Amino acid sequence: MIILALETSCDETAAAVIRDGRHILSNVVASQMKRHSQYGGVIPELAARMHAEKIDPVVRIALEQADISLNKVDLIAGTTGPGLEGALLVGACAAKTLAHCNGKPFVSVNHLYGHIYASFLENDPPSFPFICLIVSGGHSLLLLVRDHFNIELLGQTRDDAAGEAFDKVARYLDLGYPGGPRVEAQAKHGNASRFRFPRAMLKEGYEFSFSGLKTAVIQTVQQLEKENEGASHAAVNDICASFQSAVVDVLAYKTLKACTDYGVSQLVVSGGVACNGLLREAFSAACRDRNIALAIPRPELCTDNAAMIAAAAYYHYQTLGPSPLTTTVNPAMAL
Ligand code: KG4
Ligand code: ZN
Repeated sequence: MIILALETSCDETAAAVIRDGRHILSNVVASQMKRHSQYGGVIPELAARMHAEKIDPVVRIALEQADISLNKVDLIAGTTGPGLEGALLVGACAAKTLAHCNGKPFVSVNHLYGHIYASFLENDPPSFPFICLIVSGGHSLLLLVRDHFNIELLGQTRDDAAGEAFDKVARYLDLGYPGGPRVEAQAKHGNASRFRFPRAMLKEGYEFSFSGLKTAVIQTVQQLEKENEGASHAAVNDICASFQSAVVDVLAYKTLKACTDYGVSQLVVSGGVACNGLLREAFSAACRDRNIALAIPRPELCTDNAAMIAAAAYYHYQTLGPSPLTTTVNPAMAL
């Protein structure tokens, strides 16, 4: 089965073609990051307009790279939420129009399912049941995935998402957008034990909170400014390293506790923050010690892309069939 999927929920215009839910024939991502970085974050109106400009060429390139014509595609999928409404509308409308005009079934995909199913595109797909941590710019979710589309939400963030915390700290330190990769780059040269930032709610269930950590970073910078060290490179590097290690500590502790509590020996970590090198190392080491099988997709499948939407659509179609063309976008779509 050949699936063409479109993804425009935030600031990436993406289209991908995959075969049999597993084999990526093409995975094209046109990132708007450069434009948005001028403003320090994503501007929703600009995102929608840029998706409208890019969606047609991106779909054409995805088909060309897959060396497939539209009439060979069996199913067309599009992200319908959660995300920015205007941005979602572009990809969802394009996917429904392509499906309708070519007489193909349409599948509406929840972006969060996409992050989960990114792990099914790798050589060793996860086995059920598994614990899944999704850490992105908009979400920090801890899930118990019993089977396809049988998911229990164990916990989520009470305030900022993990990626959002990286982005806000980077903005405060004038490092630019997106914050995650910038903070990680600075942290490589820093001392992670110089500042002891809070590990919030560590012993309190599966919920996360990152806004106190962000405030602690701001207070530290203000203190350093008083001591005339605020803008020094060394101080910024040490703050980034200490901040990054606080985020990774909390994510790893709670996620591995969930594996133990539920007696689950398979873990999936996905979403943009799962590109982080320290996070990948920390989870690998902890899972090795505990005999837990770990699936973290390669970085280009962790950040937003359409191959993961196609993978989710494949299993959605097998389990639940097609979605009606009357399906509309929902910026606050839950799992
Ligand atoms: O999954 P994603 O591409 O988009 C959303 O669905 O939000 O995630 C983007 C987020 C941004 O907040 C970005 O700063 C973060 O992922 N991110 C990282 C890294 N690369 C991207 N965070 C930490 N370390 C990284 N290397
Ligand atoms: Zn995402």
